[in-house]
Amino acid sequence: MDLTTTSEDVRRACEAARRGGAVVGLVPTMGALHEGHASLLRRARSDCGFVVLSIFVNPLQFGPTEDLGAYPRAPERDRAIADALGCDLIFAPTEAEMYPNGYPEVTVDPGPLGDRLEGASRPGHFRGMLTVVAKLFAVAGECHSYFGEKDAQQLELVARMARDLNLPVAVVPCPTVREPDGLALSSRNAYLSQEERAAATVLFDALSAAAGLVRQGERHGDVLRAEMAKRIGAEPLAGLDYVAVVQQGTWRDAETLAGPARALVAARFGKARLIDNLSLPWEPGWSVQNNGAAGKER
Ligand code: PAJ
Repeated sequence: MDLTTTSEDVRRACEAARRGGAVVGLVPTMGALHEGHASLLRRARSDCGFVVLSIFVNPLQFGPTEDLGAYPRAPERDRAIADALGCDLIFAPTEAEMYPNGYPEVTVDPGPLGDRLEGASRPGHFRGMLTVVAKLFAVAGECHSYFGEKDAQQLELVARMARDLNLPVAVVPCPTVREPDGLALSSRNAYLSQEERAAATVLFDALSAAAGLVRQGERHGDVLRAEMAKRIGAEPLAGLDYVAVVQQGTWRDAETLAGPARALVAARFGKARLIDNLSLPWEPGWSVQNNGAAGKER
């Protein structure tokens, strides 16, 4: 496996791979790799002839009071993991390589969804994230690129960017990898004390409770939101940021569930701000009239 810090090397390697008939797979990360990242790399390895892992802690997507300086970095370990998973090339650019003229003046506008949920809590985050992902897509060229559902709003915005800007990239969603107790893997879990780690399971508990209510017939978004807020609010070590239930596709707040939807939560545990989400169960034939009323009255 090769490692390079330059865009030019990556561009050349991807072009050569495509000339040889390979599909290029790109897995963008900020490093400190865990099993979530590994699952993306495995999927890319099974789909693609040439797999590129990018590792770059992108300053553009961190707010002034966020954890850019403290963000975990483990280059040696990352390299060993990427090697073991059969990755072909690591792209680990410096800040000067990514932003040779300082921070860019031309950036990617995430559109209205960029101001909601994570975007409301982290102003500028999605603009910075999409800008670096657009640059990585431009360097890799025609490829498949792998993103985790763990960051569902990010995944949605990247897919919209590829679609709306005609980028030659197939964005491939990958399921969230969790600890046995349900906590979604995240590089930021490293910030948690033992007590906070135990408390953080409340996020998945809240999401699972919402999914359980839907399975029992509940169709009112407000009831689902209230249940999640109640559970997270009852955990003394959790500082609730938001709970949401949005319709799949539009990402509008769901008042009454009438199709596939997603529940999302964000909360602070000490120094760590954690997010999680779950696709809510939906089966063809479920109707608002039949199940919604029953769910409410039960
Ligand atoms: P990072 O947080 O390192 O995540 C890199 C990729 O791994 C993202 O697509 C993320 O959704 C995925 N991922 C993280 N935890 C996961 C889990 N538990 N299960 C499945 N996938 C998981 O997200 C970023 O970096 C950055 O914003 C980036 C896209 C690299 C742009 O800078």
